[in-house]
Amino acid sequence: MRIVLVGPPGAGKGTQAAFLAKNLSIPHISTGDLFRANISQGTELGKQAKAYMDAGNLVPDEVTIGMAKDRMAQPDAENGFLLDGFPRNVSQAQALDVALKADDVKLDAVLDLEVPEDEVVKRIAGRRICRKDSSHVFHVTYSKPKTEGVCDVCGGELYQREDDSEDTVRKRLEVYHTQTEPIIDYYRTQGLVVTISALGKVDEVTKRAMDALKGDK
Ligand code: AP5
Ligand code: ZN
Repeated sequence: MRIVLVGPPGAGKGTQAAFLAKNLSIPHISTGDLFRANISQGTELGKQAKAYMDAGNLVPDEVTIGMAKDRMAQPDAENGFLLDGFPRNVSQAQALDVALKADDVKLDAVLDLEVPEDEVVKRIAGRRICRKDSSHVFHVTYSKPKTEGVCDVCGGELYQREDDSEDTVRKRLEVYHTQTEPIIDYYRTQGLVVTISALGKVDEVTKRAMDALKGDK
């Protein structure tokens, strides 16, 4: 399957993507994680992305689209993928359509996670990420690690993302409403959007998402 996951910052895209990708046997491709990996490795791409991310703005399309396409061209993504955080504006969605068409393949669904703004703010404020692998995500109250400050999966140190400060979160939410939400209408005209509530326990949301993807709403 080829799926796009969309939703505001803190909706739980990364959390759900980890389970959905496993259940569906497809790779989880997160442009946010790819940028963070580049930043921690000190690459040129990471240097270009960092200032935009720290300010809560989108990284320019020229950088983002090429990086996403390179990742989708890897052998493990040949038969499907779960995109998390890409596309994030209409021009990225159009570029993705062109790339898929060139490979003669199509998206199967766009899964839209709905969460009220006060809840995303709580989720982001308590989020802690693993320094060794940013796909290992915890929360100080909702999803506590067994030992405070230590990743349950790999023992890495947990930290708070630099773009999770209150001001930057407000900016990211504004960018989501103005630039990312329009892709939901773009995909609605293609009949691809499935909207679910992302409230409730993590496993309840995963079940809701799996049922929705199977057309079993
Ligand atoms: P990115 O990393 O994609 O961040 P985001 O979209 O803002 O989303 P988040 O990672 O903040 O949240 P999430 O929905 O994954 O939530 P999570 O699962 O962690 O992008 C960061 C930046 O990179 C952007 O601002 C931009 O600069 C740049 N960028 C990335 N892609 C780009 C693109 N395509 N174009 C241009 N720029 C791009 O969950 C949040 C917390 O809630 C966690 O602590 C978790 O434990 C907890 N939680 C999750 N589910 C539940 C639940 N059901 N109940 C209770 N708690 C929960
Ligand atoms: Zn870890």
